[in-house]
Amino acid sequence: MRKINCIGVLTSGGDAPGMNAAIRAVTRTALFNHMQVKGIYHGYHGLINDEVFEFRSENVSNIIQRGGTILKTARCPEFRDYEGRRRAYDMLRKEKIDALVVIGGNGTFSGAREFGDEFDFPIVGVPGTIDNDLYGTDSTIGYDTALNTIVRAVDQIKDTAESHERLFLIEVMGRDAGFLALNGALATGSEAAVIPEIATSEDLLEHLIQNGFRKRKKSSIVLVSESDATGGAQGVAKRLRENGYEPHVTILGHVQRGGTPTASDRVLACRTGVAAVDALLEGQRGCMIGIKDDQIVYVPFSEAIKGEKPLDHHLIDILRVLCI
Ligand code: F6P
Repeated sequence: MRKINCIGVLTSGGDAPGMNAAIRAVTRTALFNHMQVKGIYHGYHGLINDEVFEFRSENVSNIIQRGGTILKTARCPEFRDYEGRRRAYDMLRKEKIDALVVIGGNGTFSGAREFGDEFDFPIVGVPGTIDNDLYGTDSTIGYDTALNTIVRAVDQIKDTAESHERLFLIEVMGRDAGFLALNGALATGSEAAVIPEIATSEDLLEHLIQNGFRKRKKSSIVLVSESDATGGAQGVAKRLRENGYEPHVTILGHVQRGGTPTASDRVLACRTGVAAVDALLEGQRGCMIGIKDDQIVYVPFSEAIKGEKPLDHHLIDILRVLCI
């Protein structure tokens, strides 16, 4: 095993609240272990273009509570080509970086896997995405904060929905995963969640909405995951309008990605950030740090990105029971 003297850290893909806490954890753990740390700005794009700066402890002071990422982030098409990855490798050598910690989601880890295999380079991942769609970890950094943001927004929409006795369809993020929509619906007492993993027929949806109004509920709220599979809130609204409903649509959008990370996301970021550096020191590579049943686990990148993270179908049953 080659000795690691210098670790590079970057954030890539969509930002997520708690990424800063993870950057801090990685930086301080590396410094604690007498290694040098280099912060790489703008993800893989910054790696290719040498946006690399040495980090000291004070570079990560007072950031644990801040949303976004101080390292900035980007989606980098160049890194999908061999030529881009080759330039990234040359840059790592020039900067004398011996190992990388990448903080991000699916796209970040598929790039890391390809790069690590091609250039025999040690990389460990920290799960950072509001979507919670990475297999092998119970939660991802940013998910809890985004869920709480959704809950706050839905609570507010409920006030006006109730006053006007309206039906609202609220679209939430999640790419192709329904964790935010399903748990958001549960936490706000919504009528239903339309998610990509489980088909919701028009009949069932209308039944759930009618059920609420029959029980003299004053408003009706349905959370819809953004996804081709659901058609998003606009797609569901179109179908409901054809059947005589008058739904109002709210798309929460990027408000879900910002804000102060919750305590839970900060703790997750601290634990996985520290574990990422420890893993590299133990000779681990090509894997994501996960937490399963409160234990740190190493999940090969191939599993983290390809394995389908199961959604607890029991939650759907609970939602139906509780909205009668
Ligand atoms: O992966 C995080 C996420 O916020 C998804 O939920 C969403 O589909 C996507 O990123 C939006 O990406 P962008 O900010 O690049 O439009």
